[in-house]
Amino acid sequence: MNQKNPSWDIGRFVKTLAYFDIIPFIGCLQRLFLGNDNKDRSIGKSMGIVLVAGATGGVGKRVVQILVDRGYQVRCLVRNCDRAKSLLPQNVELIEGDITKPETLTPQLMAKVSAVICCTSVKVQPVEGDTPDRAKYNQGIKFYQPEIVGDTPENVDYLGVKNLVQAAKYLNKSTDQLIFDFNNPSADLKEIWGAVDDVVMGGVSESEIKFIDNMAVFTGNVSTQNSGGFASVRTKNIALPLDLSTYEGIELRVKGDGQRYKFLARTESKWDGVAYCHSFDTVDNSWIDVRIPFNQLVPVFRAKTLDSKELINTQNICSLQLMLSKFEYDGELNPNFMPGHFALQVESIKAYGGETLPQFVLISSAGVTRPNRPGINLAEEPPAVRMNEQLGGILTWKLRGEDSLRESKIPYTIIRPCALTEETGVQELVFEQGDNIRGKVSRDAIALLCIESLSQPQASNVTFEVKAVESPNPSNNWQQLFASLQPD
Ligand SMILES: NC(=O)c1ccc[n+]([C@@H]2O[C@H](COP(=O)([O-])OP(=O)(O)OC[C@H]3O[C@@H](n4cnc5c(N)ncnc54)[C@H](OP(=O)(O)O)[C@@H]3O)[C@@H](O)[C@H]2O)c1
Repeated sequence: MNQKNPSWDIGRFVKTLAYFDIIPFIGCLQRLFLGNDNKDRSIGKSMGIVLVAGATGGVGKRVVQILVDRGYQVRCLVRNCDRAKSLLPQNVELIEGDITKPETLTPQLMAKVSAVICCTSVKVQPVEGDTPDRAKYNQGIKFYQPEIVGDTPENVDYLGVKNLVQAAKYLNKSTDQLIFDFNNPSADLKEIWGAVDDVVMGGVSESEIKFIDNMAVFTGNVSTQNSGGFASVRTKNIALPLDLSTYEGIELRVKGDGQRYKFLARTESKWDGVAYCHSFDTVDNSWIDVRIPFNQLVPVFRAKTLDSKELINTQNICSLQLMLSKFEYDGELNPNFMPGHFALQVESIKAYGGETLPQFVLISSAGVTRPNRPGINLAEEPPAVRMNEQLGGILTWKLRGEDSLRESKIPYTIIRPCALTEETGVQELVFEQGDNIRGKVSRDAIALLCIESLSQPQASNVTFEVKAVESPNPSNNWQQLFASLQPD
């Protein structure tokens, strides 16, 4: 019998390219992902414990009181429990520790902590001394010649903060992030996935992804005719690539047909660029969980392995792909491949092994970038900027403390208040970025701001200065204030 090769279908080829190239922006996956992410990060009363460091200080005491009033579970890191008992509400947990002594920042301190609010500081006081309740330091308006007493800013405001950040980082591991939940598919899903078969190379295999019975089914017919031999489904490029850098890998829940399939991820938006690949075997007609650690993904161009052996940049995942191919790598054959009909059912695709990181709110100070800033007019600057050197480099070390948090990958909010006062009553606040403002703000207002930032998704990964402004009817729209900030 004269068996004719089936002819290549240019229509399908063009359709495939059009599907993936003509629509350049697809935010659906992003929305899906960010949707979950935001939910996880918006911390409310249902969250675990809030740890307050510096709980016995001027701002710290107020933070604790507001948290208690709002029904949060509060743990306080204090240097002396007996003293703390006389200053703090009864229904808070006290743990003795010192941020300059990392051995005191134990796993017990961090257990079940969902947020850390750090209000610590070296002790600053007037050279002539202060009253027992630190009235001169606290009032914050009248100038007294200041000095540092006790430990240095380097130890407390830099190394101490860094120790606390490190302690917060090593919380319980292993959370999962659903990327695709086919059990509960949204209408968007159908717009994200499309077939990429060997028609793009002249072949005649044909596949599709169907969404049925609470799962996705990657199914079709794979043919080796016309030198072909692969079928796949791939997501369109994600406009804002996924950052999965805090996870260990990808987990697929699949039921297959005993064949060996491939999972591929890409970190660039090119249609035909480098992909990071892993082969996995399926068990005929059985559900299995396939874990693919990121460090085992093999960099490939088409099915050729790359010499670089470079690890995937997990901060920048642009697209995902599932494939059935006659080939493994570099011309080797897939040992479990059978041409013809195939079906891979997929229930979910997740990132696994994520770190459970708390949100970290750090009180720093306006002016931290101003000492030694070219062109700065010191005469107009607040005392801490003018006297940074005499005060042990207090602002310089506070900036280093901030840096340790920004570099940590912990979601953070860095608040830089202007001069702190004991004024009472609601204050209207302004936020700024760039570290140029001067002014004052009450400890009450800063304490409230710390707590508001726990529940504002746009407070994540921002650094900003804050001061109070005169207003006949002071009030704050927290959502608007945070929306005005640029993430770092
Ligand atoms: N004062 C201002 O005008 C001004 C302006 C801008 C920013 N700020 C910043 O605002 C924040 C709050 O200021 P504040 O006036 O509320 O400070 P504060 O009253 O001096 O309180 C400092 C807190 O830090 C604790 N602390 C110090 N060293 C510690 C250590 N090694 N381990 C654990 N805890 C330690 C103190 O504990 P003890 O009770 O045991 O001493 C105290 O609870 C600080 O970061 C400050 O630098 C202040």
